[in-house]
Amino acid sequence: VNRTLVRLLLDREQELRERHGISFRITGVATRRLGWIADPDGLDQAALLALSSDELPNPTRAEPALSGTEGTLAPHHPEPRDNVRDWLSAAHADVLFEATALNLESGQPAVDHIRAALEHGAHAITANKGPIVHAYRELRDLATAQGKRFLFESTVMDGVPVFSLFPQLPLIHLQGFHGILNSTTNVILSEMENGLSFDESLKKAQALGIAETDATHDIDGWDAAVKTAALITVLMDVPVKLDEIQSEGIGGLSGEAVRAGRKEDRPYKLICRVKKTASGITASVRPEQIPLTDPMAQIAGTSSYIYFETDIFPGLAITEENPGLYATAYGMLADFVRAVRPDISLR
Ligand SMILES: NC(=O)c1ccc[n+]([C@@H]2O[C@H](COP(=O)([O-])OP(=O)(O)OC[C@H]3O[C@@H](n4cnc5c(N)ncnc54)[C@H](OP(=O)(O)O)[C@@H]3O)[C@@H](O)[C@H]2O)c1
Repeated sequence: VNRTLVRLLLDREQELRERHGISFRITGVATRRLGWIADPDGLDQAALLALSSDELPNPTRAEPALSGTEGTLAPHHPEPRDNVRDWLSAAHADVLFEATALNLESGQPAVDHIRAALEHGAHAITANKGPIVHAYRELRDLATAQGKRFLFESTVMDGVPVFSLFPQLPLIHLQGFHGILNSTTNVILSEMENGLSFDESLKKAQALGIAETDATHDIDGWDAAVKTAALITVLMDVPVKLDEIQSEGIGGLSGEAVRAGRKEDRPYKLICRVKKTASGITASVRPEQIPLTDPMAQIAGTSSYIYFETDIFPGLAITEENPGLYATAYGMLADFVRAVRPDISLR
């Protein structure tokens, strides 16, 4: 996600400057394999672009990669930074884009990265759902106390404005929602309908770059459950735990069952459902057979869909057609503009 974001940022650099008065330098990059690389004067753009399109170096390298050679990500200070706080200081970071892999159990290390960024005095933008489910209120309140933004539009439906829609709808009460929020399982089900095996279909989703680092998170329904929990936590202000969402994945569906479902005009989809009740909420993620009269039956491939039930609009639906990684990166770019120029319209 962040490699695509680098390309998108560089692609929109001129427009950001001329249209929105925003200029930027990428002053730090960190991954487990690269280490914590920082240069407050800005990292070499050619090297960043190469990095954003090439395979990362061999993880067994002991040294932080790409250092010391002209035209590479050489930090001015050759010693690697040891930890996120030193790295943020060395990079003089104003904004952190956090896109580490999802950790279902604790949301770490993303929670620590975001906390460190906000305490450092930077805005924190993430595509990682873990911190929303595990630490939303703490990070939101910390951001407010620091006068910074904690934004996460890319965590659900890529860059589609789901979270930022609701501040545009003051005094509306969300009573429930349902939808298809996991692209990997949707690609798998679509490809199985077309005759591919489960494994071939999963490989297709992985080749598109949309599968979770650990694809069992998608297949077992956990990615969809985390997204559902994130929406409940933020939009309904109910801090829900993952085990409060009844979750079932698509691993038990055979190719025959999936193809028969489509043939009977009742295709299988992995559906998230949430309802507000007198005592709280009910929430589930499970494969369901959907009649063709329901728009969800048409949601194929990487597309996703959400239908909000509110007290003013009985039904308000958003369909996202065939996004790629640019859509996810766009959500982070849009959050960047929202964070640094809250005064301007995105148009
Ligand atoms: N892909 C999508 O379509 C999509 C859409 C929406 C949201 N997201 C979310 O965005 C995040 C990133 O997804 P992705 O597809 O870009 O995953 P990815 O390709 O697996 O990349 C994850 C990155 O995180 C780095 N990382 C992991 N643990 C780290 C740590 N402890 N310290 C520093 N770096 C660490 C990895 O570095 P190494 O490789 O060096 O270990 C890698 O560069 C995930 O949380 C995912 O749920 C993804």
